[in-house]
Amino acid sequence: MVVDVLTLFPGMFEGVLTESILKIAHEKGVLDVRLHNIRDYTNDKHRKVDDRPYGGGPGMLMTPQPVIDAVEAVRGDDQEAELIFLSPQGQVFDQKIANELAGIKRLILVCGRYEGFDERILLALKPREISVGDYVMTGGEIPAMAIIDAVTRLLPNVLGDPESASNDSFQNDLLDFPQYTRPPEYRGLKVPDVLLSGNHQEISRWRNEQAIIRTRQTRADLLNNKGDST
Ligand SMILES: C[S@@+](CC[C@H](N)C(=O)[O-])C[C@H]1O[C@@H](n2cnc3c(N)ncnc32)[C@H](O)[C@@H]1O
Repeated sequence: MVVDVLTLFPGMFEGVLTESILKIAHEKGVLDVRLHNIRDYTNDKHRKVDDRPYGGGPGMLMTPQPVIDAVEAVRGDDQEAELIFLSPQGQVFDQKIANELAGIKRLILVCGRYEGFDERILLALKPREISVGDYVMTGGEIPAMAIIDAVTRLLPNVLGDPESASNDSFQNDLLDFPQYTRPPEYRGLKVPDVLLSGNHQEISRWRNEQAIIRTRQTRADLLNNKGDST
């Protein structure tokens, strides 16, 4: 997958892309993140990319020319690429959207700053807008990183065990079941006997029950999405 990121702060991505799973995905050739500085596309001699809002009010807005030119230059003739603007006003990102995006060959993620984008940018480019939740961050960079991270672990050959993503919370509209590792007892807290039994059928049944109990306790809304009898 190719992910083009348009941002005013490309340096923010360095640590995230060069550690752990994203680094491995890059080394395996599964993920190719290309960072583009929107400021490099401005026609302004002072390299300005923002201005005050008409009608007054606090803060600055990203001006149309640098953003639109940057998107057009990066996208080129590729009309298949999914153009996504990070915005608190967008569709709220979830595991279903992560799965959907994992099936797309090329994403172009545009990170806003200041008070956001001049509306004409959105009218001209008609991007999909995605939010990472109902709160406002200072820029789209961390939301873009969250999306890249969640999507990358769904790409083939990224996780060591291909099953680990399929058991994750939300993949089946359930939270993950409780997990234990060594030692078998810690501060008087014991690993449930069934997990030490070696009976894979029983373990599977227990895990499924626990996932349903846990989901009912804290995220009962997810169970409404399930079509089966849970
Ligand atoms: C301070 S915010 C602008 C908020 C805007 N004035 C509003 O109220 O809708 C600046 C930029 O951060 C990014 N951003 C902030 N919160 C976000 C969220 N929840 N999801 C995705 N992007 C977000 C967007 O790219 C946005 O253009």
